[in-house]
Amino acid sequence: MTANIEIQNVTKRYGSMTVLDGLSLSIKANEFMVFLGPSGCGKSTLLRMIAGLESVDEGTISINGERIDTLPPGQRDIAMVFQSYALYPHMTVADNMAFGLRNISVSPDVISSRVAEAARMLEIGHLLERKPGQLSGGQRQRVAIGRAIVKEPKAFLFDEPLSNLDAALRVRTRVELAQLRNRVRSTMIFVTHDQIEAMTLADRIVVMNNRKIEQIGTPMEIYSRPASRFVATFVGSPTMNFLNVGLTEENGFLRAKLPDGTELQTAIRSSGPKAGEFALGIRAEAVKLANGVPATTTGKVDVLERLGDRTLLYTSLKDGTVVVAEDIGNSRVAIGDEVALTLDGSRTHLFDTAGNAWHNEEGGHG
Ligand SMILES: Nc1ncnc2c1ncn2[C@@H]1O[C@H](COP(=O)(O)OP(=O)(O)O)[C@@H](O)[C@H]1O
Ligand SMILES: [Mg+2]
Repeated sequence: MTANIEIQNVTKRYGSMTVLDGLSLSIKANEFMVFLGPSGCGKSTLLRMIAGLESVDEGTISINGERIDTLPPGQRDIAMVFQSYALYPHMTVADNMAFGLRNISVSPDVISSRVAEAARMLEIGHLLERKPGQLSGGQRQRVAIGRAIVKEPKAFLFDEPLSNLDAALRVRTRVELAQLRNRVRSTMIFVTHDQIEAMTLADRIVVMNNRKIEQIGTPMEIYSRPASRFVATFVGSPTMNFLNVGLTEENGFLRAKLPDGTELQTAIRSSGPKAGEFALGIRAEAVKLANGVPATTTGKVDVLERLGDRTLLYTSLKDGTVVVAEDIGNSRVAIGDEVALTLDGSRTHLFDTAGNAWHNEEGGHG
């Protein structure tokens, strides 16, 4: 079973505080959609409204064309997996998984075959007789997912299900979720504040901030063509460099005057931006040591971060603007060095203070 989910003009208030303001979005059948945004931006609230655990103050939510926001949670045919797992401690794993089905009087034969199938899929068959207290965090997590799978819901909702796991297990469970997703064809909505989880799991990402949706797109659309400075800041690590620039035009494309007075030719069409203050965005991976290529400018290396496969150089330009550059893993640069930097003008973005963004010509990359 699967479902497309339509959210139209949804608003949520707590007292006088509006936490979601007129949100609209469509989730396709079988899509893995991730709600990404900082803590407190309303991700869980939106998810809980879809599940029926919170009321909708304005707007509608529909599944396969039928309004569900007026239905009680039990009639929505949706399963939710919480960060806290919410397992019954006194019940075995098998009973935890079967409980919801017994409640709606599914026949015992169907229940045991669904539990066995979910256990096989999640590789927890050997744990079925244990109690949650005898399981690791990762195993409990799987039981919570198994409990959702046996319901054969139209959609799965996950609220930060990896947040309670340690770093190594988080990565492993993330990969397992991606694999599970290929076995269980169903609509899935996954909430996280972790941009790496969003990038690695999503078909599409909804970036949320400050009561609103900032952007909806595939991971690479979000990464390569962030719709606002907020999105550009939130997605990608290290965070994108921003430089206050003055703009001129050359052959239909913008030329940026960097804060230290040097100039950079961009691949952004000059027809787009209107007057105002602009920040030029460029990711560290598009800022390299000049090494024979004509340099754009020079920076002094203040901090050096060795990541093994590459090295991040936190440099400051003559005027003090900080620019993070990327060098090879075995970088020979030292703190205090004055380095010549080449900024790749074909990989720049432009942001104004009103939340608009412009990018290089279509076909270029991040
Ligand atoms: N039951 C509630 N009563 C009042 N305010 C709430 C309630 N639940 C959430 N909020 C507020 O709504 C906003 C969004 O919360 P939430 O959806 O939990 O954010 P997120 O999941 O993105 O971290 C926050 O400012 C939070 O404090
Ligand atoms: Mg939350």
